Amino acid sequence: MDSAFAAIAERLKTATSVVALTGAGVSAESGIPTFRGPEGLWQHYKPEDLATPQAFARDPRLVWEWYDWRRQKIAPASPNPAHEVLAQLEQIVPDFLLITQNIDGLHRLAGSRRLIEMHGCIWQVRCLTEGTVYENREVPLSLLPPQCACGSMVRPDVVWFGESLSVEDQARAFAAAESADIFLTIGTSALVQPAASLPIVAKDRGAFVAEINPVPTPITPLVDSHLQGAAGVILPQILSILLKS
Ligand code: OAD
Repeated sequence: MDSAFAAIAERLKTATSVVALTGAGVSAESGIPTFRGPEGLWQHYKPEDLATPQAFARDPRLVWEWYDWRRQKIAPASPNPAHEVLAQLEQIVPDFLLITQNIDGLHRLAGSRRLIEMHGCIWQVRCLTEGTVYENREVPLSLLPPQCACGSMVRPDVVWFGESLSVEDQARAFAAAESADIFLTIGTSALVQPAASLPIVAKDRGAFVAEINPVPTPITPLVDSHLQGAAGVILPQILSILLKS
């Protein structure tokens, strides 16, 4: 396994353009539950009851209770070594882009700035009447559903199932995947589109694709290197080899 880490470190050293895609697994070591798997959120909750525009239209209070609970889990969490290494790679690689499906804000907290939060951010809310987006960090929320100063209800500024991602974010993410020398897919089950297509697009355009995950995923057969294990353990080892070389 060490030689696989050294091989990636060697590639990262000479790469011009690196894209990393992360999913819930990158925050697992910060104590934030993932969605799938035996302990995943979707074992206990149904996405169609909580993470769709229809669910929100039907019962905004229920949806907000779920987000309030998730905000309470995320608020005390700190970035782990995986988030920290990705923030450091941004400083080392000439052209680095981090694309995350996570809404927990931990990459930003770790210092990542060349960052696309594809599914939005749990700390941002959007007024249903005015469309304005602003930060709300109240934990727990004192009013459910929370209201805008204009008196209208707000919703979490996140992307729900059945909703489109920002056109600009998608265009930027796919353009980066197309021109990447190295594409890292980390802590994602690679099941949700369009994020799941990014490593495939990168591979088709000639990138070296490496996956970090404790278990195989649908894209494992396509990647050049599957590093089996926890992101918070593997990424620091790769960085340490990179910094010594
Ligand atoms: P998932 O819960 O589907 O997958 C998490 C992945 O992380 C799994 O493949 C785990 O094996 C892996 N994993 C767990 N612990 C890890 C660790 N310490 N290091 C590395 N990997 C680890 O989460 P996502 O792929 O992010 O969308 O799910 C994608 C989207 O589906 C989410 O953004 C969310 C969800 O429904 C929306 O809510 C729109």
